[in-house]
Amino acid sequence: MSMYDDLAQILIDKQSLSEGVAKLAHQLDGDYADKNPLLVCVLKGSSVFYVNLVTAMQIPVEMEFVSVSSYGAGTTSGQVKIKKDLDVDIAGRHVIVVEDIIDTGNTLSLLKKLLEERNPASVKICALLDKKARRVADIEGDYVCFDIPDEFVVGYGLDYAEKYRNLPEIGVLKSEVYSK
Ligand code: IMP
Ligand code: MG
Repeated sequence: MSMYDDLAQILIDKQSLSEGVAKLAHQLDGDYADKNPLLVCVLKGSSVFYVNLVTAMQIPVEMEFVSVSSYGAGTTSGQVKIKKDLDVDIAGRHVIVVEDIIDTGNTLSLLKKLLEERNPASVKICALLDKKARRVADIEGDYVCFDIPDEFVVGYGLDYAEKYRNLPEIGVLKSEVYSK
């Protein structure tokens, strides 16, 4: 059984992903030269993007991992709970939050606010995908690889019911997969 059997369409293929990530890595190399940035991976969705991004960069970076769960995600008054926090103090540091996708933006805006309370030198948002049509929260990606239409996508870290994260491209599932 192959994950590809469940796909209706490949939206962003391997080649485009690798080119997009390389371009972003190069941009970050320029913007953060001599800033010793701390790149925060938001588990689990951004894991695949994160590893490919940091290994495509040439400047030294520090790697940190957080895991969050959001409640009331449909509203801007929602709350984000940190399930796994950063291991280091970020005061005075240049922080880049690496996310898989900005959808409503609620999780990210809450996470950003939380991190800013710790007095970092800066907090920027870096996302693989941006689904602008769905935005609710007042937040924008500072670095975005691809804008996508309002469709549910899987692969390259993104899941449907915890599956398809290891698909090496971004795809759209066949509708019958959801009724299984
Ligand atoms: P939001 O921006 O707070 O609405 O939530 C973003 C989170 O929802 C992302 O980090 C993903 O985990 C998940 N998500 C949003 N859209 C998709 C999608 O199309 N496929 C898979 N996960 C998604
Ligand atoms: Mg996520």
